[in-house]
Amino acid sequence: MDRNTFDRLFYQENIAQQPFELWMLLGIIEKMIPWVDTIIEIGVYLGGTLRVWREIVGPNGLVIAIDDGKRGFMEKLQEQYRDDDAVTLVVGDSMEPAVIDVMRNKLEHSKAGMLFIDGCHDYAHVKSDYNRYRGHVRPGGLIVFHGIKNGEIRRVWDEIIEGGQFAGVYELYDRHNCTGTGVIVTD
Ligand SMILES: C[S@@+](CC[C@H](N)C(=O)[O-])C[C@H]1O[C@@H](n2cnc3c(N)ncnc32)[C@H](O)[C@@H]1O
Repeated sequence: MDRNTFDRLFYQENIAQQPFELWMLLGIIEKMIPWVDTIIEIGVYLGGTLRVWREIVGPNGLVIAIDDGKRGFMEKLQEQYRDDDAVTLVVGDSMEPAVIDVMRNKLEHSKAGMLFIDGCHDYAHVKSDYNRYRGHVRPGGLIVFHGIKNGEIRRVWDEIIEGGQFAGVYELYDRHNCTGTGVIVTD
């Protein structure tokens, strides 16, 4: 993605990301998984990262975007993407088996190139999102965590990294203004 497209998507409407970290992540995506056509996102909010993923996968790809809807923006997004086959919005808690079933059915036995975890930021949810969804990412794909700088997400991140074998692990930070984005390249 070129910088003009990135800026247009990033500043179009609110996005809950730090621009440097997302721009760096896009560089990793382009180098590591240029073939990516399927992305799972947990945590949609206003749809900021969703519009970036949608741009990456293109009209024939698929973004499965899951959000509990508690902030009240999913109806608007459902309307916005109503005629877009490349976006499936799933409303519900990411831990719910019914939500996972919708995601699994949509994948139809294929696997995603990237999983982006940015839903509930407490320890149990982040860990559950990783454990329940990671099996749906193909080898050589990416699992990305937003917010690894500190707190409960940091704790989950450290446990995962210390306990696992991965093809690559990256941490993206802007020194002065960061949330921390963690990237795992799956084995
Ligand atoms: C940080 S925001 C996502 C921001 C978005 N990825 C972006 O950068 O534009 C987190 C979202 O996750 C949702 N959420 C919180 N807990 C959740 C859960 N257990 N399952 C699904 N979504 C959840 C919140 O309602 C909120 O909309």
